[in-house]
Amino acid sequence: MSDSFRLMLRALPDFPENLPGFDPAQAPVDPAELFRSWLDEALTAGVRQPHAFSLATADAGGNLSSRMLILKNLDDDGWHFATSRTSRKGRELSANPRAAMNFYWAELGRQIRVSGSVVQLSEEASARDWDERPAGDGSANPEWQLFALQPVEIEFWQADPSRRHIRHRYQL
Ligand SMILES: Cc1cc2nc3c(=O)[nH]c(=O)nc-3n(C[C@H](O)[C@H](O)[C@H](O)COP(=O)(O)O)c2cc1C
Repeated sequence: MSDSFRLMLRALPDFPENLPGFDPAQAPVDPAELFRSWLDEALTAGVRQPHAFSLATADAGGNLSSRMLILKNLDDDGWHFATSRTSRKGRELSANPRAAMNFYWAELGRQIRVSGSVVQLSEEASARDWDERPAGDGSANPEWQLFALQPVEIEFWQADPSRRHIRHRYQL
């Protein structure tokens, strides 16, 4: 049973045949600019929810957890996401304000990881994010908090059909 499961996993399709190229020598100096252009290409390629990413956090004892979130903005404050302050990740971020994001776009064989420290953004910006949610009904949620991850490291990864996968790292 476990052998057939292992073989079934082994036989699953890998990256698609046609992958975009990526030349790190031509990459912009600003990683945010590269992220925006990759996001545009993901949208053009029909990637569903390209703004979804996994966020890993750790509690004070170093125990890790991760979950999917939605990117809300990218500006001088950092990479924005929002959640409840009383959620597990909210509590972990109060105890240990560091996190790692990972975006993965299977159709393009692209992965982007971003890690750094996390700050809370203003009450006004948090309330606006809550209001703007598609399911918003005008009611307030004082526990809702907009955060910004301020990267120390960003790595863009492009799968290559001949397995010479390409990595481009920014250290900030
Ligand atoms: C694609 C996707 C997007 C999500 N976006 C958010 C989000 O932006 N904010 C949020 O609080 N939860 C979001 N969730 C739910 C979280 O993954 C998670 O289940 C929830 O926030 C509780 O996480 P925690 O118990 O680790 O704190 C999303 C889930 C998925 C699958």
